Amino acid sequence: MTTPTIELKPSSNPLSDAEREASMVNPGFGRRFTDHMVTIRWTEGRGWHDAQLVPYAPLSIDPANMTLHYGQEIFEGLKAYRQPDGSVATFRPEANAKRFQASARRLAMPELPVETFIAACDALVKQDEAWVPAHGGEESLYLRPFMIATEVGLGVRPANEYLFLVIASPAGAYFPGGVKPVSIWLSENRVRAVPGGMGDAKTGGNYAASLLAQAEAAEKGCDQVAYLDAVEHKWVEELGGMNLYFVYGNKIVTPALTGSLLAGVTRDSLLKVARDLGYESEEGRVSIDQWRDDSASGGLTEVFACGTAAVITPVGTVKSEGGEWVQGDGTPGEVTMKLRERLLDIQRGVAEDTHGWMHPL
Ligand code: COI
Repeated sequence: MTTPTIELKPSSNPLSDAEREASMVNPGFGRRFTDHMVTIRWTEGRGWHDAQLVPYAPLSIDPANMTLHYGQEIFEGLKAYRQPDGSVATFRPEANAKRFQASARRLAMPELPVETFIAACDALVKQDEAWVPAHGGEESLYLRPFMIATEVGLGVRPANEYLFLVIASPAGAYFPGGVKPVSIWLSENRVRAVPGGMGDAKTGGNYAASLLAQAEAAEKGCDQVAYLDAVEHKWVEELGGMNLYFVYGNKIVTPALTGSLLAGVTRDSLLKVARDLGYESEEGRVSIDQWRDDSASGGLTEVFACGTAAVITPVGTVKSEGGEWVQGDGTPGEVTMKLRERLLDIQRGVAEDTHGWMHPL
């Protein structure tokens, strides 16, 4: 499969420099979008075609579009960072491209070649480079590649036409409090995904499935919801939109990939960054009783959430029907912050990229 050439149709009315700069102040997460987007079509029998870099604009969708009815949709999230010399690099786009292919297989969608995924992200970042925030801070340009079915019809089956897009958004902290520890609501009855389901695919359906429990978390005054496994309701899996790490002194442990949780790129990177910093790191199983008891005994020293959007965010209070507890003294832990600093330093180009993760444009 050859990568289609991306044809450029630049925006005739982009924001002025002043308007763009104003919209990049305190960008928050996912509220503003750059001037362009990439679109590539796939048709049964023809493959990928019509790759274009076009002005950012609404899509016109038939009311009987199959994605609107049966949710055949997948997406990714990755970031572009301004480097010390002013150039721009993305973090591990190949890992996202491969996960996008795995999600496509699970949702019976066509696989986009890895090189096409990367070329599409590169083309958008190059075109809208002025939207990449300045070097040194925590801000970056968040890229959202995604794919929807475009076939029109109400029969339930894999569609025969798809549209792949990449949009971009300047991003600051995902949580309004920045690195302030987040509070977690433990969802003991509602599950996010089941064995054999699609919990390991990055598809909108998993996020839709998390929204009711996330709303319940908000009612309890919590920032995020944590899910347990669907069979025993015992093993901690992940949060609504990010993975979890448990810190036992010098060792960090993250729930193993059982098939019902997402293989986060940040999660995978931290297994390696932790070893670089002299910590032990492993995938394992942590039960909810262990979380509560080890936190009380002090054996569990820190807990943090991680994801592309969330970066690394410490966990403070945990609430459940049975009561609540505070992790450590409720402030960000030392290991959490060291991992966070090293990961961000690699991404910002100030720590050596020994794993070859940065993709310069
Ligand atoms: C990401 O971290 O990129 C995600 O897609 C998670 C979502 C909560 C924004």
